[in-house]
Amino acid sequence: MTLRIDWQPTVRAGTLFASAAVLAACMSVPLTASASTQTTQPAAAPAAPAVPQGPFQLPALPYAYDALSGVIDAQTMELHHQRHHGAQVTGLNTALANAPQLAGLSLEQLLARSSTLPPAIRNNAGGHWNHSVFWTIMAPEGARGEVSPALMAAITRDFGSLDGLRDQFRAASMNRFGSGWSWVVVGADGRLVVGSTPNQDNPLMDDSPLHGTPILGSDVWEHAYYLRYQNRRAAYVDAWWSLVNWGEVSRRYEAAVAGGAS
Ligand SMILES: [Fe+2]
Repeated sequence: MTLRIDWQPTVRAGTLFASAAVLAACMSVPLTASASTQTTQPAAAPAAPAVPQGPFQLPALPYAYDALSGVIDAQTMELHHQRHHGAQVTGLNTALANAPQLAGLSLEQLLARSSTLPPAIRNNAGGHWNHSVFWTIMAPEGARGEVSPALMAAITRDFGSLDGLRDQFRAASMNRFGSGWSWVVVGADGRLVVGSTPNQDNPLMDDSPLHGTPILGSDVWEHAYYLRYQNRRAAYVDAWWSLVNWGEVSRRYEAAVAGGAS
């Protein structure tokens, strides 16, 4: 028996496909089997629908996938970044291609009118913003910086201590039923507030009950931790706190209280 396999690797966000090697093994044929007796070429695969390339792009991680492996394994980081976040960027661009009235709006401008958006744009815009921030407020050991004096003063004022903030943040992460995010935001009165949002919502959305400028946020979807922690969200939440890039969180705080974009 001779058989030719034309393998076209196809990667769609959120979906894993069997490798060519596994496929060949299952069929008990070599990948490059002779085609000397083959008379019929396999039908060409239907062309994939065009995926809009913009206006939004998946940002590169500011560190290697294994840089946080003491807390989050490299496979989780790669799947989370490439597949989950990548799918949200693709989904957002695809949905916006059918919404010309929203052309040219920034991500923050979209979020500020989330109550008017169709679900595909709302959810993917939220996911893109949330994950883009999430990557930057974690850092490898030695690159996490320090809590700035201004931020420490605000934490002491509003939570008593850094441990007080951690305890409230932990409670918000644990009390979020199902999937969502936990946050520290600067509210309209300048005070720090801890809370959480469901799904891919965030505190920049005009219809979010938790509203303000996020300076710190943690992903508590299971895809963020399941490979290592399985159902033990508390273990992930506690370990995640050690990854916080306090230099970046301090920068975001000072930009928020100055009224600037973060
Ligand atoms: Fe996520």
